[in-house]
Amino acid sequence: MSRPQLAEFMRRMEPDSIAIIPSAREANRSNDTDYRYRQDSDFFYLTGFNEPEAIAVVAPSHPEHKFMLFVRPRDPEREIWDGRRAGVEGAMKEYGAEAAHTFQEFKDKLPELLDGPSNLYYKLGANAALDEMIVRALRTLRANPRTSKHAPDRIIEPGTLLHEMRLIKTEEEIALMQRSADIAAEAHREAMKAARPGMKEYEIEALIEHIFRRYGATAPAYTSIVGTGANATILHYIQNDATLADGDLLLVDAGAEYQGYASDITRTFPVNGRYTEAQREVYELVLKAQMSCVEMARPGVTMDELKKHSIEILTEGMVQLGLLQGEPAQLIEEEKYKQFYMHGLGHYLGLDVHDVGPYYTRDTRQGRPLAPGVVITVEPGIYIATDTADIPEQYRGIGIRIEDDVLITEEGNRILTSAAPKQIEEIEQLMAR
Ligand code: GLY
Ligand code: MN
Ligand code: MN
Repeated sequence: MSRPQLAEFMRRMEPDSIAIIPSAREANRSNDTDYRYRQDSDFFYLTGFNEPEAIAVVAPSHPEHKFMLFVRPRDPEREIWDGRRAGVEGAMKEYGAEAAHTFQEFKDKLPELLDGPSNLYYKLGANAALDEMIVRALRTLRANPRTSKHAPDRIIEPGTLLHEMRLIKTEEEIALMQRSADIAAEAHREAMKAARPGMKEYEIEALIEHIFRRYGATAPAYTSIVGTGANATILHYIQNDATLADGDLLLVDAGAEYQGYASDITRTFPVNGRYTEAQREVYELVLKAQMSCVEMARPGVTMDELKKHSIEILTEGMVQLGLLQGEPAQLIEEEKYKQFYMHGLGHYLGLDVHDVGPYYTRDTRQGRPLAPGVVITVEPGIYIATDTADIPEQYRGIGIRIEDDVLITEEGNRILTSAAPKQIEEIEQLMAR
């Protein structure tokens, strides 16, 4: 069996266990047309298999078949329409399954598979059809005690193991994430060079996604946010159809998905290539908080500590700018900063853009310290709605976020997205070209 993630998962499973991990289902977009297929991240992590209608069965103590795949069978007619399938043979030859069957056969084989192992790793509640199949199989096994059959005693959430593994990236994963970050950084640079008054937000979106695809990314890792002027103060703005105006900022939050791995970058730059005085003041404050948090990100520090640090810097700066009035400590106590800084500092990043893994430890319920191999985003922002009362006029309608992807290392960290400029002089120079 070739895949190291799968071997490690088997090592970590309880003895005498079986795991059932399904692929993602296809998603309908309209009538008979589907979205481009995106594999389930857990399934992909374990198998590298990218087709729908597949189930991985992992049974480390099975004498012969420790890894089994149920897949769509080869079908010359369907393959003309939908593309190549690995089929049962490919599941074994190309994906290292020791046994493979068709997806249709899974239901009939299930009682046999579940007969014996003490533990079943299965994520309940995510796939109703499969839940029911499993419950039926368990019921069948339990139905007649005057046989030698034994149903598993325990059902265990596989995510607890899998997500712990996915949280700490291997060298191979880090290389893919760096590539994803490089592609996204290049797209942000090109967006800066291309932007000018009169363009539409969607032209920038198209340019960015052109570059993603040109360098082999499958897709954006999430719907790109391209918001000019006050649109930048809407956190999940994806309409992307307004016109870029002279004197406004443009906030671009866009990342690529490369061989399954996400990047997630935000840059905020002036449409005409020069920040105004007011924009510069707010930008410098967000940048200061962002860089100081990146600096602080290292093994042992928690995401909560980073967030707190960003709140302290931003709140103090907001008082200096006249966005808030009062003592910073008191304003933090009363959470007044939330009017302008209302989201988290960042999140884990990996196969999912908001990647899996616990942020708090189960026993103490305290923030979990960062460790080498974890990748996080650091993305503070300030968003000043146009109708905000009692603040200096010149700040109204400004929205700024700066977001980098940061790998935690033994020594501290490495910024994966540093090829996307974020210093004012760098950005203005690039845009002047
Ligand atoms: N683009 C999603 C995020 O920044 O969390
Ligand atoms: Mn993010
Ligand atoms: Mn983002």
